[in-house]
Amino acid sequence: MKKICFFDTKPYDKTYFDMYKEAFDFEIDYFEPKLNADTAIMARGYEAVVAFVNDTIDAKTIDILYEGGVRLIAMRCAGYNNVDFKAAFGKVHVVRVPAYSPYAVAEHAMALLLTLNRKIHRAYNRTREHNFSLNGLTGFDLHGKTMGVIGTGKIGRIFIDICKGFGMEILAYDLYPQTESGLHYVSLQELCERSDVISLHCPLTKETWHMINKNTLQLMKKGVFLINTSRGALINSEDLFHAIKEEQVGGAVLDVYEEETEFFYEDLSGEIIKDDILSGLISMPNVIVTSHQAFLTKEALSNIAEITFENLKEYFKGTGLANEICYRCTKFGNCDKTDKNRCF
Ligand code: NAI
Repeated sequence: MKKICFFDTKPYDKTYFDMYKEAFDFEIDYFEPKLNADTAIMARGYEAVVAFVNDTIDAKTIDILYEGGVRLIAMRCAGYNNVDFKAAFGKVHVVRVPAYSPYAVAEHAMALLLTLNRKIHRAYNRTREHNFSLNGLTGFDLHGKTMGVIGTGKIGRIFIDICKGFGMEILAYDLYPQTESGLHYVSLQELCERSDVISLHCPLTKETWHMINKNTLQLMKKGVFLINTSRGALINSEDLFHAIKEEQVGGAVLDVYEEETEFFYEDLSGEIIKDDILSGLISMPNVIVTSHQAFLTKEALSNIAEITFENLKEYFKGTGLANEICYRCTKFGNCDKTDKNRCF
């Protein structure tokens, strides 16, 4: 039986993976620690590891995995900015789940916006204390406002449809605009200048790292709302923190944070958070932080489990790897996949 181990496993992961594992002939061990250079040794003797968004899959981790016999890293997520593809190439295949529920993420983005704008988080706490005052709870109509969407891929497009349902005007920016989509594409500068709310739906790459920084924040309308359900490092958090303090930004909802690896997915309620920017942002009444949970729906977890097992099955059968990704794929959009429909 093929041996596979999972890193960074939470109870809800196990529930869904256990539901699907019977259909596949794998021996599975679930590990709680995140995968990184210190924990990679745990995978010795396994041929495949299953990893997640906050694992650190750098060159050192990959070398330790490879020396221990690992030949496949199956990412149980869509994003892959935490993988050193150059280091993996030729040694360890990397597969991912390119889409599992773009609806989950797009719906969470809108849930966060509605919560913040209509102050639901504050109203909920107030009424539990029998405080029925409305002071400070005024929001604005989304209808007729302009939503700027950065990244018009699977999630961005669904989010746009949701926003259209609210009667919002849409401005879009993408490095690769979908010209047939009928979307109104503008430059990043124009999007920043004209949007009332800006939502990020592009991947984290060298080009998008800190794309929201003090320069782009200054271009935005005073009081702009920002939504980030993509990757934390799209935003320079310190610049955002200051822009909120200076009231240039009127509100921010963040499902991701650039230094989240140390905190997200853990119960740290009894501890002092040593990241002053994260603590500062969380303490602000016009900021909502969720712990990288936009994907967390039953449908998404089922799809992640099923597609991850299919990816593993393909690998062990020796067939092409439909969801393989390598540095050539990320650089050129695709690679030849000349070797048995695999990247190498
Ligand atoms: P996608 O690949 O379908 O779409 C990404 C879009 O971004 C594409 O249209 C692409 O052309 C565009 N893009 C690439 N580079 C760009 C640049 N430099 N500037 C502007 N646009 C650029 O990806 P999908 O499925 O829509 O996911 C988007 C992101 O959402 C993922 O990269 C991931 O980081 C994040 N995500 C977050 C989750 C969460 O739980 N918070 C769950 C799943 C994805």
